[in-house]
Amino acid sequence: MKCQVACLKNGPYEVKGPVRIVDANGSVTETENMTHHLCRCGGSKIKPFCDGTHDMIGFQSE
Ligand code: FES
Repeated sequence: MKCQVACLKNGPYEVKGPVRIVDANGSVTETENMTHHLCRCGGSKIKPFCDGTHDMIGFQSE
């Protein structure tokens, strides 16, 4: 299965594995077949992952 990245309307990137995610500190999250949501609004407190803040700040994007 290939990795798939989708932009969710007014929300995060939805990434379906297998995938290896490396954050700014070099921490690695590696999974085979899970779905992850990555922040693209800039407001998450658990970057690079989405924590739902996009809803509270009214993030808008197609
Ligand atoms: S996209 Fe969800 S917190 Fe940023």
